[in-house]
Amino acid sequence: MPDIEDTLALASRLAREAGAVQRERYETELRIGTKSAPVDLVTEVDRRCEELIAGALSQERPADAILAEEGTSRSGRGSGWLWVIDPLDGTVNYAHGYPRFCVSIGAEHEGIRTVGVVYDPLLDELYHAVRGAGAFRNGAPIRVSRESDLARGLFATGFAYDVHHSADDNLDAFGRFVKSARAVRRDGSAALDLCYVASGRLDGYWERKLHAWDVSAGALIVEEAGGRVTDLRGGPLPADGSRIVASNGLVHDAMLALLSPR
Ligand code: IPD
Ligand code: CA
Ligand code: CA
Repeated sequence: MPDIEDTLALASRLAREAGAVQRERYETELRIGTKSAPVDLVTEVDRRCEELIAGALSQERPADAILAEEGTSRSGRGSGWLWVIDPLDGTVNYAHGYPRFCVSIGAEHEGIRTVGVVYDPLLDELYHAVRGAGAFRNGAPIRVSRESDLARGLFATGFAYDVHHSADDNLDAFGRFVKSARAVRRDGSAALDLCYVASGRLDGYWERKLHAWDVSAGALIVEEAGGRVTDLRGGPLPADGSRIVASNGLVHDAMLALLSPR
């Protein structure tokens, strides 16, 4: 069986290779299509990055399962490993030339998030974590912030692609955080938001209606950096990643209270 170190090395190499493609094509003319809604974009770079990562995994880890955003879905042949891939997290940013996007690769073993790698190709920042072994940025250990007062905290969130039509749009919670915290960002990459919680740049982050590929790597990185990750009510993070609250732990209960006011 491939060991965890091999898995981390492979995930890191593939994240850097896909990131190099993103860097090369950044601010060039792109073919852009839409998916679930006119605001839900996909570019040729999303697809190319997914082909690169999934193609390499087929060669190097043929017995592993894959779940990736742009449609690659393969059941494994008994290895117990599942690769959960967002080939380009922050597609709207990428399509507009806004410099906040990344590659996110999680590797889960027997259903447990075991390895996570997130790579920001413009800042050349590679975040990684292995369960039980800490979280790192470019090889240096990272920790969540020490802020315990939500009023002094910096937070981030995001809005799902159905925001124009759905009543479940996160705007109420967004308003409550804007009125209570120091500031709130909406920067357009869930995986980087999680890594920023892990490295103390943010104190907390929440979002609804995400997918497993948005959070598989980042949730592990937050936990391994000493943070807390739950659903919106303080229960375990759902396997499909659809409801997430991530924080330094110290402001977590205050976040949950703002998300579910009495
Ligand atoms: C999106 C980003 C964004 C979040 C959306 C995600 P994509 O992923 O992570 O920050 O608010 O909910 O769908 O589509 O750019 O991979
Ligand atoms: Ca995503
Ligand atoms: Ca994506």
